[in-house]
Amino acid sequence: MIDRFNRDINYLRVSITKRCNLNCSYCGAKKEAGVELTPVQIEKIVRAFADCGITKVRLTGGEPLVRQDITEIAQRIANINGIKKIALTTNGIFLKKYAEELKKVGVTAINISLDTTDKEQFRAITGYDGLDKVFEGIDECERVGLSPIRLNAVLTKGRNDNQAESLISIAKDRKIDVRFIELMPFSSDGERDELVVTGEEILKSFPDLKPFIKDGTTDFEKSVARYYTAEGYKGRIGFITPVSNRFCSECNRIRLLSDGKIKPCLGNDAVYDIMHVIENEEGLRKEIEKIIMSKPREHSFSCGYGNHHGLNLIGG
Ligand code: 5AD
Repeated sequence: MIDRFNRDINYLRVSITKRCNLNCSYCGAKKEAGVELTPVQIEKIVRAFADCGITKVRLTGGEPLVRQDITEIAQRIANINGIKKIALTTNGIFLKKYAEELKKVGVTAINISLDTTDKEQFRAITGYDGLDKVFEGIDECERVGLSPIRLNAVLTKGRNDNQAESLISIAKDRKIDVRFIELMPFSSDGERDELVVTGEEILKSFPDLKPFIKDGTTDFEKSVARYYTAEGYKGRIGFITPVSNRFCSECNRIRLLSDGKIKPCLGNDAVYDIMHVIENEEGLRKEIEKIIMSKPREHSFSCGYGNHHGLNLIGG
């Protein structure tokens, strides 16, 4: 449906858990689960969203694959009328186990968070020696035909800003998009502007990268990522620049949190509870319409550190 600022809100991000099996320094997701929606509750809410014009759903966390009922959740969503696309964002550790089942029930796009290709650095950033598992997960996604596969990297000054080249080379060799996301102010180090590596800084170091052109256009308008590629590359390089360059006027997203609250804007504190109407189809739809209409014009990130519904808990 169209919101107050003429944006077509058709993309729902569903955080199914706050829990995460990693402990990335820039994120700091909590270990305790709190109340988590059941697959049936998620289905009810997503169905109401579909009635309001949502066509694409992304499952996020925390880490969504820590939920053992992940396949059931995906399947229930896949069966909802109007939902055309289901994507998943994961840290990849459990992906090898789930890739095939997820593909079977209708998940297509997979985003995998990967900030480094260096084993030691991976352990330092995430607190877990899991780089090999992530690559096994990526291989499995390719094997079972999940597509597109995207890697998301957050570069941080002094920590992994030496990784741009090796991450980019993955897109050279494989049909995988590698995207750099600017560090957002959602954790104690995310608060520190001087740690942010901007998309522009990375681009400057790789002059061979040229805007990715398809059907005569750059596609920049259609996605929050701006895509580039170079001669001979199988994949693309994307830049997501919420800090240096906001994309609020194109924002088509709304978020369902793992406890059933709805968050219209990532960079704004407002959340709305809908659990009191979850058993009432009509009431739920009306409530959701109202919440979509409250989506602010742009984000401020002023909530920042200490924000209880920060990005770390809701998967971006
Ligand atoms: N800034 C930018 N991106 C972040 N992510 C997690 N924390 C931050 C942050 N502070 C990314 C993860 C993952 C995606 C869901 O959000 O790397 O790819």
